[in-house]
Amino acid sequence: MDAVMLVGGQGTRLRPLTMSAPKPMLPVAGVPVTAHMLARARDAGITRVVLATSYRAEVFEEHFGDGSGHGLELEYVTETEPLGTGGAIRNVASRLRSGADEPVVIFNGDILSGLDIGALVERHITADAAVTLHLTRVEDPRAFGVVPTDPAGRVTAFLEKTPDPPTNLINAGCYVFRRSLIDTIPAGRPVSVERETFPSLLAAGVPVVGYPDDTYWLDLGTPAAFVLGSRDLVTGRMPSSALPGPVGDRLVLPGSTVATDAKIGGGSTIGAGASVGTGARIDGSVLFDRASVGAGAYVRDSVVGREAVIGNGVVLENVVIGDGAVIEPGNELRAGARVFPGAVLGAGAVRFSSDRA
Ligand code: GTP
Repeated sequence: MDAVMLVGGQGTRLRPLTMSAPKPMLPVAGVPVTAHMLARARDAGITRVVLATSYRAEVFEEHFGDGSGHGLELEYVTETEPLGTGGAIRNVASRLRSGADEPVVIFNGDILSGLDIGALVERHITADAAVTLHLTRVEDPRAFGVVPTDPAGRVTAFLEKTPDPPTNLINAGCYVFRRSLIDTIPAGRPVSVERETFPSLLAAGVPVVGYPDDTYWLDLGTPAAFVLGSRDLVTGRMPSSALPGPVGDRLVLPGSTVATDAKIGGGSTIGAGASVGTGARIDGSVLFDRASVGAGAYVRDSVVGREAVIGNGVVLENVVIGDGAVIEPGNELRAGARVFPGAVLGAGAVRFSSDRA
């Protein structure tokens, strides 16, 4: 069975982290988001995955190569201009080997999910659907477009955000398409599956089936979700066979240096070659490779980019520090502040900020 992974988005909500690396290549619990997804695909019996790339396309092949190191056969297709989710699926059609009536599994590359992929495909086949969508339940559906279904599980509408949604089921970003349907998506122009393809299939009376599933699910699109997802992998809430080492309250990657009296917990990850100084506290956070955190600093619910330097005694709460940025001592950043790659915050420049620096 063929699978397609969509990894070409700009990841604007995760800036400035995505200025240095595309979102699906950002490390969560020590390995790229895509590596967790590929491991799930492989564990479900998928042997070949076509990666639909666009933004920063080259880094995927550099990292994953032909896939043999991951037990998969990988192919790459790069768009000359971003084609959106539907356009990207159409653009890989010529690489698919499935027969016209056979299923093709499509994944968004920025989702952590415990979905049983085999069960989704099974549902697709037994329902004789054209498309089957994984649906997940959210607590507050007002922030999402929702996907109501009839009692037989057929999707009845794709509704935009509304103050009074009729269901709490949303599109979870994993689909099974009947192969022949992919050829009907218009070629050579941007197409959104969510806004164009799915609604037009419904309008044409084509059977689109929803598959609600309540296992772990998280869209890693925002900084808050990114740290949460990394934490959930480290603490074992979200299982993954791609984890690089023993996990528990923290994941400390080889080559890092952590002072014996530093306190690291809450599912934090300390990247390879990173360092944490004496008396520092790292809680529920992600330090990318070669980041350094000085003595007595406090880092909570934050992401510290590669080679970023956090000075002694600095406080970071709920912030994103871009690669190579330097935060000198005497700074306190909180509440969604984002520091751009390579920026230098001089000593005591910011006591409290939710702005971008
Ligand atoms: P934001 O800009 O923060 O919304 O992130 P994004 O660009 O990743 O968009 P979104 O989260 O809606 O994308 C869903 C999935 O589709 C992600 O896995 C993206 O990598 C992927 N994707 C989005 N647009 C494109 C595109 O034009 N081409 C390809 N190949 N993939 C895309």
